[in-house]
This record gives sequence, C-alpha cells and structure tokens, in this order.
Amino acid sequence: MKSKLPDVGITIFTEMSQLALDHQAINLGQGFPDYNPDALLIQCVNEAMLAGHNQYAPMAGVPVLREAVAEKMARLQAHEYDPGDEITITSGATEALASAITALVHPGDDVILIDPAYDLYAPVIRLAGGTVVRVPMMPPTQDTPRFAMDWNALEGALGPKTRMIVLNFPNNPTGTILSDDDLAHLERIASRHDVLLLSDEAYEHIVFDGESHRSLASRPALAERSVVISSFGKTFHATGWKIGYLCAPKSLSAEIRKVHQFMVFSVPTPMQHGLANYLRKHARLEQLSTFYQQKRDRLKTGLEGSAFRPLQSQGTFFLLVDTSALGDSKEKELARRLTIDHGIGAIPVSAFYEDPNAPQANHRLLRLCFAKQDPTLDRAVEALRAVPGVAA
Ligand SMILES: Cc1ncc(COP(=O)(O)O)c(C=O)c1O
Repeated sequence: MKSKLPDVGITIFTEMSQLALDHQAINLGQGFPDYNPDALLIQCVNEAMLAGHNQYAPMAGVPVLREAVAEKMARLQAHEYDPGDEITITSGATEALASAITALVHPGDDVILIDPAYDLYAPVIRLAGGTVVRVPMMPPTQDTPRFAMDWNALEGALGPKTRMIVLNFPNNPTGTILSDDDLAHLERIASRHDVLLLSDEAYEHIVFDGESHRSLASRPALAERSVVISSFGKTFHATGWKIGYLCAPKSLSAEIRKVHQFMVFSVPTPMQHGLANYLRKHARLEQLSTFYQQKRDRLKTGLEGSAFRPLQSQGTFFLLVDTSALGDSKEKELARRLTIDHGIGAIPVSAFYEDPNAPQANHRLLRLCFAKQDPTLDRAVEALRAVPGVAA
C-alpha cells in the first residue's frame, strides 16, 4: 500500500517508554505524571455522570465549560473570547492542533516550525499538503543555559508562501518561555507578513521563578491571527482524559470546527461538566507552578555534582541535562544506555529535530520529566548520580 506518511513509525515516546518497561527503568521519558488528579476534580466528574450528563455534548463543547475558559482567558490574559463562537473544547491539545492545521493549511503552503519541535506538527502539516520549513532555536551557551528564539532567523524564513508559524511556549522539550521582548518581536513580524500563528500553550500554567505565561492571546495584534491551544490533561494531572481547548477569532474557529465536527464531533460530556464545575469552584491554577517548581528543584539540586548538568527550565515539566561528561555518543544511544544500564528512561532532544542523526540536532542533551512523585524523583537522582563520567 502507498503510505501517506512513509517515514513515520512509532513515536520516540512510545519507543523509550517500552524500553523503560522492558528494563524496569524509572520512566522520566514520556511526559505524564505518576500521580492522580485532585480528588475534587474526580468527584466533579463523578457528580456530572450521576447527574445524567452522559450523552453527546454539543459539537463545540458544553457552554458552561466554554464560559469557564472564556473567564479564565479574560482574567489571566486580558483577552475576551466569545464562548459562543471563539472557544472549542477538543480531544486534548492533540486534536485541537490537528484540526487547526487540517482546516487552515492548504496544499502548497509553507508552515514554519521552530526546532526542536513537538513531534505532532510536521506529519499533520504534510498530510494537509503543506511544506514544513524549520527554523532552529539558538542552542544553550555558558551565558544563556537554555534554548532561545532566533527572531532574525524566523523572519528570514518567511516568504510569500508562508501560511502559518507554529509556536510552542512554554516549550517542550526545552523549557523555554516567551518574554515581553519575544512577543514584541513576534508582533513586528506579524505586522509585516500576513501569517497565521498556531500557539501550542499546553503548559500555560507551569511557569517558574515568578515569571508568568505570556499567551499570544494577551496581545490584540497577535490574538487576531492566532489559534491558542491548551490541554486540561497537562494542567490537571489527567493526561489520560484527553481533553483540551482551542481559542481563535470567529472566522478561524468556524473553519476549524468544520474539521473538528467530522474528526471527533464532540468530546466526553461528563469530563466537560466536571471540569467546568471544578474550574469555577475549586481549581487553584496559581499553585501549579509552585508545585512543579519544587519538583524541578528537587531534581536539579539532586543532580548537582553529577555527570548530568541541568540547564535552565523556565516552564513545562521538563528539565534538560547536558551529558558532555559522558563522552560523545549520539543522544539516542545515550538515552538507550541510560535506560538499559542504569535504569532511567529519558528522551533524546535530537528526536525533536527533522533529522535526529544530524550533527546540529545533537547537543548532548537529554530531556527528563519531573512530573513524578518525590520518592520516584529521589530514586532517579540516586541512579543518575551513580552514572560515572568519562575522564576528559
Ligand atoms: C507541546 C505539546 N503539545 C501537545 C501535547 C498533547 O496534549 P494532549 O495530551 O492534551 O493531547 C503535548 C503532550 O505531550 C505536548 O507536549
């Protein structure tokens, strides 16, 4: 059979999770928590089921949840989305991204991705007939121990065929967030080029060190051309529920809903009612960053003096570690050895590049997920500290 995606196999997350399972390793690879959502959220969903919210939801999502999202966006990002026409509840950020790309990218369009990039974007762009144009972030340096946007490179990559730029901040895998300066650069670019912005903000509520998340929704000149996407799964430790949302101006939302309605029609009703109730009455979104910052610091401090040098993580639940002290193997080989020989599952950052084997994709970095219970993190630290460095 002629494949539409001949070079796509299983994802690196599935591959490394299976390897971790096979070798009974602590899985700091795939990005999911090893703890439950708040019992109150589970109770809210149970109550919704018992109250009879068990049949199809409206295609765009139940009104109470769309209203709760509109309130949250107005409160935190000062943008008023109309819950009727501009907010859609989706099957995770995944379906929101896939529906938006499918609806908005036409055959022959160029779509810019920022490398390293989450693995979903490129195949879906290609399925829509688009061409992926990659712009690398600037890799970490001694002075700036994190990846950073290269706005000149981004502007240089824009051309007459550019339809969309995909952005993902807080960024998976690098942990980089956007600053006010970054948003100003983006505004300048958007004012000169007629492009759409697809903003994957799945980690919007996980930002550290007193910084705040700067959504593209927070600047009117960006919001008018942006599709802003998030994930309740990531926010509420419920990745298995696969529920998220998408905010976009009415004209864009109308096109995206045409795809959403035939991709999934609607998403589970009791989850939607439960989340609406929880968001209104119980959710403490401000506490999430503190919760995760403690975990980040537990892992980071634990690794001090080990062969793994932590980089700066400004947000998400990922920490990149520099493995230069372990020799010069390719990142993927290193991740495999770490799992098999030392019992720690990790993800090579090179997997987020177009060609994971290319020298410019290998910065000797591994991604560790710290969305784990403290005892799990402590066991991981112990195992990582026991990995000997190679004498220089
Ligand atoms: C950057 C990014 N976007 C989207 C997703 C998918 O989110 P969801 O589980 O809500 O579909 C993930 C999950 O890992 C992610 O890291």
